Amino acid sequence: MRTLVLASQKGGVGKTTIAGHLAVMAESAGAGPVALIDTDPQGSLSSWWNERKAETPVFASVDIVQLADHLQQLKKAGIKLAIIDTPPAVTETIRQVLAVADLVLIPTRPSPHDLRAVGSTVALVEAVGKRMVFVINGAAQRAKITGEAAIALSQHGTVAPVTLYQRTDFAASMIDGRTAQEIDPTSRSAGEIVELWKYVATQLHKK
Ligand SMILES: Nc1ncnc2c1ncn2[C@@H]1O[C@H](COP(=O)(O)OP(=O)(O)OP(=O)(O)O)[C@@H](O)[C@H]1O
Ligand SMILES: [Mg+2]
Repeated sequence: MRTLVLASQKGGVGKTTIAGHLAVMAESAGAGPVALIDTDPQGSLSSWWNERKAETPVFASVDIVQLADHLQQLKKAGIKLAIIDTPPAVTETIRQVLAVADLVLIPTRPSPHDLRAVGSTVALVEAVGKRMVFVINGAAQRAKITGEAAIALSQHGTVAPVTLYQRTDFAASMIDGRTAQEIDPTSRSAGEIVELWKYVATQLHKK
């Protein structure tokens, strides 16, 4: 079993959106069974999951204090990928979650505020010695700042070679518990998630 953690101390960067989209994507790519874990007290990911009609991915309620044990149980139950969403904060909880990660995915919006804020997340991940990858989310078409953001981020670490653009269907699809690819698998959003998953899947299996 592999564990992917979505983390960013900055709020609203797309952690929950990407957690849900990658979970559904990984299932359809045959990398499941996937278990979703929501460690954010706001519970956005669990609310989304509760709206779902599809049976996969499954949702696992875990106690942070026993996170490692609970992950072992999921592994024994046959789960192949656990995807953990986290709150936008720097807390002891985040440290405990990062400790169990095989890979940390850090979504970042291509804005100066977001880029300036990325340092504290990077410091947390580096403190626990985990591998991390940035993904630029919410990019505007043909905006120069997207390229500049990638360059700025590359000074901190690896940037995913896939950018997620600002598209209404990423948000709208989640209202009734679905994802962009479930609404229209031929959409550009769905295509971006396919590419992001391919990249994340290879990174997850690197040692
Ligand atoms: N690529 C995108 N295109 C359009 N809307 C997006 C995109 N990514 C995220 N959003 C929207 O932006 C908002 C914030 O996204 P999301 O909740 O996934 O971020 P988050 O990092 O989990 O936030 P928080 O830190 O509050 O948990 C949501 O309304 C979501 O629907
Ligand atoms: Mg969230």
